[in-house]
Amino acid sequence: MLSGMTTAASRWTADDIPPLDGRTFLVTGANSGLGFATVRELARHGGHVVMTARDPAKGEQAVRSLRADLPDASVELRRLDLSDLDSVRALAAGLVADRVPVDVLVNNAGVMMPPRRLTRQGFELQFGVNHLAHFALTGLLLDTLRDGRQARVVTVSSTMHRYGRIHFDDLTGERQYQPQRFYGQSKFANAVFGLELDRRLRAAVLPVRSLLAHPGYVDTNLMSAGPADLTGLTRRVLRVANRLLAQDAATGARSQLYAATMPQAKGGQFIGPAGRSGMRGHPAVVEPVAAARDPELAARLWEVSERLTGVRYRLQ
Ligand SMILES: NC(=O)c1ccc[n+]([C@@H]2O[C@H](COP(=O)([O-])OP(=O)(O)OC[C@H]3O[C@@H](n4cnc5c(N)ncnc54)[C@H](OP(=O)(O)O)[C@@H]3O)[C@@H](O)[C@H]2O)c1
Repeated sequence: MLSGMTTAASRWTADDIPPLDGRTFLVTGANSGLGFATVRELARHGGHVVMTARDPAKGEQAVRSLRADLPDASVELRRLDLSDLDSVRALAAGLVADRVPVDVLVNNAGVMMPPRRLTRQGFELQFGVNHLAHFALTGLLLDTLRDGRQARVVTVSSTMHRYGRIHFDDLTGERQYQPQRFYGQSKFANAVFGLELDRRLRAAVLPVRSLLAHPGYVDTNLMSAGPADLTGLTRRVLRVANRLLAQDAATGARSQLYAATMPQAKGGQFIGPAGRSGMRGHPAVVEPVAAARDPELAARLWEVSERLTGVRYRLQ
């Protein structure tokens, strides 16, 4: 589990983040859970953070709450609804027009196990929000990232990626939607994308790294509000289990913070908690499921993602 990391790194906490002054981080889903915890630590260590949220009121509330704690936090709020590719394009165009540098992109936002719903462009919601929109955002920001300092893209997957596969013949779930299977698909797609992006960046000799992270098991809104098909009792039991077993968001965010900030974190690495079946613990280098490294599958997913989003990566 700990291969590639020193003993010191295996006890790593957010206090070990180096100074981030002069660097800009863009975090999706920044208003709650792991995204908010990530913003807090990035800002605490001197980074400028572009916080994105789909709901401006929730975003403003998050900024207020951050500033109550860290009055000097350097943050700005921008709207991003990942269930609408027009919103993704508008965010990217706005950043370019305003000449906002982005050194690190943290593809964090996500939805888990809702009833079958479609994005504005007609994609299954989890595949659309968790994978396709982040694929598009990353591609649209690649020119900006190329100019970044220690530039990197961190894509947040999950241990659930292990149970996912890409349903190329039923991507919208029209024939056989099942919330867990499609969550697994989206998190598997995150893993395949992050690793393939790393290979493509290296092949093009671009100074941008792509890393994966997963937080383990964390008590956030995703857990308490996410799964759709739970009865009231099951939901209450899950809430209690979350309180007893899950890490808090600040602890869970350590993997993505390590991947986003540590100079020794390498492209292609997957950072996740070291302990208890990957559910808890300090960040370590962990292994994705073997299928996530399949280059043919990755090429197919890439081609489909470019076609569906209309975003072509400029990797020369
Ligand atoms: N919690 C865990 O145990 C766990 C485990 C493995 C992986 N993860 C991953 O961690 C990431 C963060 O989740 P979390 O646990 O922190 O859950 P969370 O508290 O529910 O946060 C999810 C964030 O994503 C945002 N989001 C949802 N739909 C969006 C959309 N259409 N456009 C833009 N933003 C949208 C949410 O915004 P709203 O507040 O407006 O809904 C929220 O800010 C997800 O990718 C999740 O898959 C979590």
